Amino acid sequence: MYTLALETSCDETSAAVIRDGRHICSNIISTQVPIHRKFGGVVPEIASRQHIEYVMPIIKEALDEAGVDIHDIDHIGVTYGPGLVGALLVGVAAAKALSFALDKPLVGVNHMEGHIFANFLSHPELEPPFLALVVSGGHTQLVTIKDYNSFELLGQTRDDAAGEAFDKIARVMGYPYPGGPQIDALAKKGNPDAIVFPKALHEKHNFEFSFSGLKSAVLNYLHTQEQRHVGYSPEDVAASFQKTVVETLVEKTMDAARWSGMKQIAVAGGVAANSGLAAAMEAACAKRQYKLYRPDPILCTDNGAMIGCRAYYMAIDGRFADLTLNARPALSI
Ligand code: KG4
Ligand code: ZN
Repeated sequence: MYTLALETSCDETSAAVIRDGRHICSNIISTQVPIHRKFGGVVPEIASRQHIEYVMPIIKEALDEAGVDIHDIDHIGVTYGPGLVGALLVGVAAAKALSFALDKPLVGVNHMEGHIFANFLSHPELEPPFLALVVSGGHTQLVTIKDYNSFELLGQTRDDAAGEAFDKIARVMGYPYPGGPQIDALAKKGNPDAIVFPKALHEKHNFEFSFSGLKSAVLNYLHTQEQRHVGYSPEDVAASFQKTVVETLVEKTMDAARWSGMKQIAVAGGVAANSGLAAAMEAACAKRQYKLYRPDPILCTDNGAMIGCRAYYMAIDGRFADLTLNARPALSI
């Protein structure tokens, strides 16, 4: 069974062809990062226009690379939320047009579920149930995956997402968007105990997150050091900030695992590529004999393949959309 999948929720235009849910035949990703970089973040209107320009050539490239004729596709999956409304609409409109013209079933995919399902592509042996920590530029969530089509959202961020905090701090320190990888690299050279930053909502069994207080504390620190003309060590700031985020993510994930009885843990989303998070999560899971999963780096950030995997498991369960499918910018799990 072949799935054609489209992803246009933010600043990556991507199309993929997936065979039987877990085999990637092609996964074409066109990133707009260099375009948005000069503005310091994603400009929604520019993102939509870029998606319009790229979506059809990228679909063609995905089919060509997979060596699959468009008429041999079994269904079409597309991200319909959450994300930027104008960006989502481009993918949804393209998928609906193809579905109508080719008479192929349409599947509307939740982007966050797609991030979680990236783990199935990287780990053929992974089966539900498991606990997922999804950490991206727009979201931070703990979700239990009870079965392929049954999820429970245990908690999410009340304000900023983890990735958003990484990006904002990097920006103020003068690094280009998206700053997460830059903070990760700096943190490796710094002292994580140099500066003590605050942690929020750290009571037991509280699966909600809040990163805006931490973000403000780091920004205040940078500002105060500059005002006093004493400067700061970017490496120490990065290491101390990253340590605070990572400890919060790991503590809450371990608490949620114990609480839900899950012994398999999957991380997902762009921040899952963070080396500090990977190391701390590995150590915490090894200590408790939990099995840890993480997608290959290319499948951590936005891509069509993860949407194709999710779409397949919806399709075999008969969860199709019709042509009234619309973009849902605030769609939740
Ligand atoms: O999942 P994603 O591609 O997009 C959203 O759906 O939001 O995640 C992008 C986010 C950005 O905030 C980026 O800075 C962050 O993932 N990121 C990282 C790393 N690589 C990407 N954050 C920390 N460390 C990294 N190595
Ligand atoms: Zn994403």
